[in-house]
Amino acid sequence: MRPTILVTGANGQVGRELRVCAETNAQYDFVFLSKDDLSIDRPEQVEEVFQKWAPKYCINCAAYTAVDKAETEQALAFQINGEATGVLAAASRQAGARFIHISTDYVFNGNGTAPYQEDHAVDPVNIYGASKLQGEQLAKQQNPDSVIIRTSWVYSRFGNNFVKTMMRLMKERESINVVDDQKGSPTYAADLAAAMLKIIASEKWTPGIYNYSNEGVITWHQFAQAIAELTRSSCKVNPIPSANFPTPAKRPGYSVLSKDKIREVYQITPPAWRTSLEACIRLLQQS
Ligand SMILES: NC(=O)c1ccc[n+]([C@@H]2O[C@H](COP(=O)([O-])OP(=O)(O)OC[C@H]3O[C@@H](n4cnc5c(N)ncnc54)[C@H](OP(=O)(O)O)[C@@H]3O)[C@@H](O)[C@H]2O)c1
Repeated sequence: MRPTILVTGANGQVGRELRVCAETNAQYDFVFLSKDDLSIDRPEQVEEVFQKWAPKYCINCAAYTAVDKAETEQALAFQINGEATGVLAAASRQAGARFIHISTDYVFNGNGTAPYQEDHAVDPVNIYGASKLQGEQLAKQQNPDSVIIRTSWVYSRFGNNFVKTMMRLMKERESINVVDDQKGSPTYAADLAAAMLKIIASEKWTPGIYNYSNEGVITWHQFAQAIAELTRSSCKVNPIPSANFPTPAKRPGYSVLSKDKIREVYQITPPAWRTSLEACIRLLQQS
């Protein structure tokens, strides 16, 4: 019998990329559940779904991801990213399913100067980061066998993200301003989806926290410049300090994640950020 992989938040960026991966992974039965199919913050629905599908794995792609809005919707952010994650983790443990949960670089305060290892002290600087941290803690508490993957700057050909916004603005405007004092690494959701399936396929499930992003360190300004180059846009990309682009939620200034652990434990080597960006833009231009 093929193992069933249950995917929550299946209409988000990572969920949609997992749907693409499913087309070439016929050794599994995938159950994709959008928010309409399963609200993870409704415990009775969670219980029902686990009973119905008896999954071997659960990948939680559902999250409250509106970083700025979270500052004023604190309770909702904690309900979805915190408590509901704990409920899913507990349901996974009870059903004997392995739980993969996605977390964020925003659990760190961004004062670092070298790539964050998984065991670096956490200290979120905004509500979203704090709610995601609570999710990590509850996942570990409710299901110690969980794999938690921290990622950063996620983009995809699906949904709304920085790459698609930049491509649109670059068509509309002659110049745009982009912050150049926040450093990090983009993550192509297609790469993250493939990495999670590689973890499932590996013979050595090892619970714990793992970092995953594409390789390389850039600023948002450099990211935007690369998008302009790869789309052959003549739009001028001006560097500005974050102080000139105030947002309700504070952002960490440095959020580079070390990928040493996932490389060593699961032999997963993330592609370079520019290679993946090129692949995503190619797909966007074809569609
Ligand atoms: N995007 C990033 O830059 C980034 C960075 C670091 C970490 N992450 C993490 O990566 C994971 C995947 O992110 P993503 O970029 O794929 O996010 P996304 O595109 O915003 O997808 C999240 C999905 O979850 C759904 N959702 C929201 N509340 C839900 C609920 N109560 N029950 C079930 N589904 C619900 C959303 O539906 P609606 O859209 O209908 O609300 C959406 O389809 C998340 O855990 C996120 O925190 C993302």
